[in-house]
Amino acid sequence: MDDLIATEKLKATIPEILEEIQKEIAPLLSMGQVANYIPELGDVDQNQFGMVVRFLDGTTFETGNSQTNFSIQSISKVFSLTQAFALLKENLWNRLGKEPSGNPFNSLIQLENENGKPRNPFINAGAIVIADIITHHFEDPLNTILDFMREVTFNKKLTINMNVLQSEKNYGHRNAALAHFMKSYGNIYSEVEEVLDVYFGHCSVEMNCFDLATAFLYLANHGVHPLNGKTYLNASQTKRLNALMLTCGTYDSAGEFAFKVGLPGKSGVGGGIAGIIPGLLSIAVWSPGLDKCGNSLAGTKALELFTTKTGISIF
Ligand code: DON
Repeated sequence: MDDLIATEKLKATIPEILEEIQKEIAPLLSMGQVANYIPELGDVDQNQFGMVVRFLDGTTFETGNSQTNFSIQSISKVFSLTQAFALLKENLWNRLGKEPSGNPFNSLIQLENENGKPRNPFINAGAIVIADIITHHFEDPLNTILDFMREVTFNKKLTINMNVLQSEKNYGHRNAALAHFMKSYGNIYSEVEEVLDVYFGHCSVEMNCFDLATAFLYLANHGVHPLNGKTYLNASQTKRLNALMLTCGTYDSAGEFAFKVGLPGKSGVGGGIAGIIPGLLSIAVWSPGLDKCGNSLAGTKALELFTTKTGISIF
């Protein structure tokens, strides 16, 4: 009962807090660098910012460009990981580590030192192993992931941006190198090209902040999506996935992110970041300008302001 009253009180403060955040991050919008490793992402107008907060009961607060679609990129790794974890359970960790990398998300160096076993499922090498697991187990792997995303967002129209996908394939030499390298260690079972199609495909899905916040609700609710009652992971697996988001979700700035924001969160080079507060809410922000580690600059600041102003984090 006390919790309920506290949640209702918190909700009443959110509209004003979002308004303040929107104003405070405005000077940062021009400061980041839009991802330009493929032309399609470099074209996005940098002067955009959206934010959505969704409580477990579905109550929603939003501001700015919260309904504008963007490329979710690495945030998609959360969904493919959910499916692979549900499938293989603890056996998953035979092929992947669970330690922060402290290196850029597309680094090759660590992989050689560690014999083709990626440090964690969120660096590109780890997500490619996950894509291999999905490819190995499902007849139509990319659509299996896409269908899952459609289910947890309740958005049947969710789709892949084919221009982004084509560009990812054209410029994906580093990811191809990671995949071939792991295959040489026997840590990729299917054909590299097939696995990369799945990996690039899920990275090229577009969502808006509302979709993302909706999708992340199962992670805020011990693996059960509160809006359809379906269990996607058990409580222990959800704890583990959230722990990985906290320690590895923003790559080599995960420490800084935990320090400043204090939430498990996952970023993508499209400028999105989604996070959760267990038992309470999910939150998604988007702003395309990135910091030097590839995380949204204004988005990270917005999350920091949110936890500071509300006084809630996981700590
Ligand atoms: O594979 C890549 O490099 C991109 N498709 C995704 C990287 C990404 O989003 C890293 N996140 N901040």
